[in-house]
Amino acid sequence: VIDIRDLFKQTGMFTYDPGFTSTASCSSTITYIDGEKGELRYRGYPIEELAMKKSYLEVCYLLLNGELPSPEELAAYDYEFRKRAYVHEGLKNLFYSFPDNAHPMAMLSSAVSALSTFYSEHIMMRNDEDLQVMRRRLLAKVPTLAAFAYRRSLGIPFIYPDLERSFTENFLYMIHAYPGQDLKIPEVQVRALDTIFTLHADHEQNASTTVVRSVASTGAHPYAAITAGINALWGRAHGGANESVIAQLEYIGSVERVDEFIARTKDPEDDFRLMGFGHRVYKNFDPRAKILKKLLDEMKDELNVDSELLQIAEKIEAVALSDDYFISRKLYPNIDFYSGLILTALKIPKEMFTIIFVIGRTVGWLAQWLEFHADSEKKIARPRQRYIGPETRSLT
Ligand code: ACO
Repeated sequence: VIDIRDLFKQTGMFTYDPGFTSTASCSSTITYIDGEKGELRYRGYPIEELAMKKSYLEVCYLLLNGELPSPEELAAYDYEFRKRAYVHEGLKNLFYSFPDNAHPMAMLSSAVSALSTFYSEHIMMRNDEDLQVMRRRLLAKVPTLAAFAYRRSLGIPFIYPDLERSFTENFLYMIHAYPGQDLKIPEVQVRALDTIFTLHADHEQNASTTVVRSVASTGAHPYAAITAGINALWGRAHGGANESVIAQLEYIGSVERVDEFIARTKDPEDDFRLMGFGHRVYKNFDPRAKILKKLLDEMKDELNVDSELLQIAEKIEAVALSDDYFISRKLYPNIDFYSGLILTALKIPKEMFTIIFVIGRTVGWLAQWLEFHADSEKKIARPRQRYIGPETRSLT
């Protein structure tokens, strides 16, 4: 890594790097990725260990505080999340104002932005206590807003959080229960979704996190920064890929048609891409995809995974991994390739998949927002451009 800022200041030169393929925009202590080896660590801990041995809430604590919580700290944290999961009653009106066919991501993004109007006393962030309250509020309320968005899209009554349930169980309860029903959520479902949240929690300077840091750099409050992150995540090249993967598997429809679609990816006249394949940083198997694949294998019977879609996915993986086109471009399955199959088994419809990503990633965005503000060298994000328009000309 070369810090060439002084040279550039003296000479007026700057680098041209579309898509930031070789530019680090910050230093960070949160997440480490080795794309060639396919390694991912949060605060130094390998993702495999965290996913197997720690809950999502412990991972949240780790990302925000730098260390894992003691049992007492975790109990206090858990209690606070349960308490803060309720949202202001006025927010329900916002959901009622959306048309019936509104996409849940659009509703969630608006609702997170609207949080700043209901909890405006903290947007000035006068002291550390304000910041602490705001980050816990955001983390605890996003799943409730996500569940409201889902239920609004179906036109069914909202279910309030249940203080007796853990973070992940509560979310499944809020989307699946009937009003007044004491719905039991199977432990295997809670564990699967909790793992998905953990795997999505942070991923250094991906597109949405870069957006969050850019918004933070203007001095905007976290509700604004995280709303921007949600919108950046929505695109199908990023978090929206999980919705597209299942849509594509359904479209392919049978194992017999896989070769036809693999051939399409190689046709220069066809812009067809295999959703859930390829990654800017991983030039090896995405370690998160490996964990999800293992989880899928272990839980497929218990979770009642759609075996036809799974077979199509397995065939795509097998064909792609032995095909020169994919090998030469180092295209491997990414996290989105398998998450949709597990979410489908949890009876979560595909329009909600990117929302699941948002719930998991909110903690990473917050940790990055906090780290940005703690940086003594922070600067407003202000890249340059290479002007290629007309030379100076005159109106006369
Ligand atoms: N299917 C077929 N070919 C692909 C795919 C794919 N999924 N991904 C990349 N390629 C090809 C490109 O056509 C290009 O080929 P070329 O060199 O012949 O032109 C080459 O591989 C490099 O692709 P780029 O788009 O330049 O790679 P980049 O690093 O910019 O993009 C990205 C990465 C956006 C993830 C890309 O691989 C993609 O579109 N994948 C599908 C969408 C997806 O799964 N997104 C989720 C990413 S993970 C996440 O955000 C959580």
